Amino acid sequence: MEWSAIRNFVICELRNDHSGHNHQHAFRVAHNAGIILDREGGNRKITLTAAYLHDCVDHKLFPNPAPQIEKIKILLKELNYSDDEIDTVIYIIHNISFNNGNFSELTLHEAMITRDADRLDAIGAIGIVRATEYGAVKGRLFYSSNEKNDNTTLDHFHNKLLKLNDLMLTDTGKELSSERHRFLLLFLSEFHKELDGQI
Ligand code: ADP
Ligand code: NI
Repeated sequence: MEWSAIRNFVICELRNDHSGHNHQHAFRVAHNAGIILDREGGNRKITLTAAYLHDCVDHKLFPNPAPQIEKIKILLKELNYSDDEIDTVIYIIHNISFNNGNFSELTLHEAMITRDADRLDAIGAIGIVRATEYGAVKGRLFYSSNEKNDNTTLDHFHNKLLKLNDLMLTDTGKELSSERHRFLLLFLSEFHKELDGQI
C-alpha cells in the first residue's frame, strides 16, 4: 500500500494546527497503529487510513466537519477504496475521539486499535509536549494556585491524561501505555518538587 497521497492530504489539512494535532501527530498515530497491528492483526488498510485521517474531521480543528468528510470521501474514492471501506474509515474516525467516543463501546477491532494508537500519543513525553502546545494555543496557564481556575493544562493531566492508561482497549496498547503513564507520573512528581509548595 502506497501512503503518500494520504500523507500529503494530512500534511495539507493539518498545516495550520499548532495545538499538538499536526501531521506529525497523525503520522505517529499511524506508526503506533502499525505496531499494534503487527502484534494483534486486523485490517491494515482500514486501520492505518483511519489513523492518518482521524484528526482531519476533529471538531476542535474543524468546527464544520461535513466538508471535511466529503473531502475524505473524494480522496478515498480517487484511491479506489470501496464504498464499504470508506464507510468503515469514516465510522472509526467518528467514534474514536476521547470526547466523542469515550463512552461509546467500540466493538470493531480496527477502531479499538486506532483509538489506542491516538491515546498513546496523548501520554508519555510526547503527550506532555502536546498538552503544553494545546494549552499555549488556548492561552491557558500551565498551572494556577487559584482554586477557581480549574482550566489549566495541569488540570488536563488529571482530568484526562492520567486516566488513559486504564482505558486502553488492546493488549499491546496496554503494554505500550504503562511506560508512558509512568513517565507522566514522574514528570508530575518532579514538577511539583520544583514548584516547592507554590501550588
Ligand atoms: P481526542 O483526539 O482523543 O478527542 P483530544 O483531542 O481531547 O483527544 O486531545 C488531543 C490532544 O490535545 C491531547 O494530546 C491532549 O492532551 C490535548 N488536549 C486536549 N484538551 C486539552 C486541554 N484542555 N489542555 C491541554 N491539552 C489538551
Ligand atoms: Ni488525535
